[in-house]
Amino acid sequence: MEKDAIIKKLQWFYVLELNQVNLYLAQSKQVEDFYLRQTLLRIAEVEQGHVENIRAKLQLLGVSAPVMGETIAPLAGMVGGFATGKAGTIALLKANIDLEEKAMKDYKDFILRVGKNHELFEMLWGHLIDEDLHTAWFANKMKELEENMAGRQ
Ligand SMILES: [Fe+2]
Ligand SMILES: [Fe+2]
Repeated sequence: MEKDAIIKKLQWFYVLELNQVNLYLAQSKQVEDFYLRQTLLRIAEVEQGHVENIRAKLQLLGVSAPVMGETIAPLAGMVGGFATGKAGTIALLKANIDLEEKAMKDYKDFILRVGKNHELFEMLWGHLIDEDLHTAWFANKMKELEENMAGRQ
């Protein structure tokens, strides 16, 4: 992969990860479930770690991280105004799973493009696995809430 293409990709992931930080922090202030709130805060910290890892790689390549502007709103809008209650929480978790799965797909594609001997290989794998763990936790929580709702009918 050409250096310019790598820089472009890293900048793209930087924005994605920063959006995830902001989204999960915003959600942590909205949800009623305390365990979910604590988990969102913890996951936001992990996403912040991803942001910093990518910023460091960009610096090594001699470029600065993109300046963030208008990019937060579209993602925040994705979760549909933070509906409350169990149904709202399920919708929020579903949106998060979609977002994490998209990130995983893009990390996998990037890993395949840079190849095993590339300097970015370990970082990209680390991020991919983190996103996988987030997806698994969100999916598990969603299942729990769905079963809970079904049990009440
Ligand atoms: Fe991430
Ligand atoms: Fe994630």
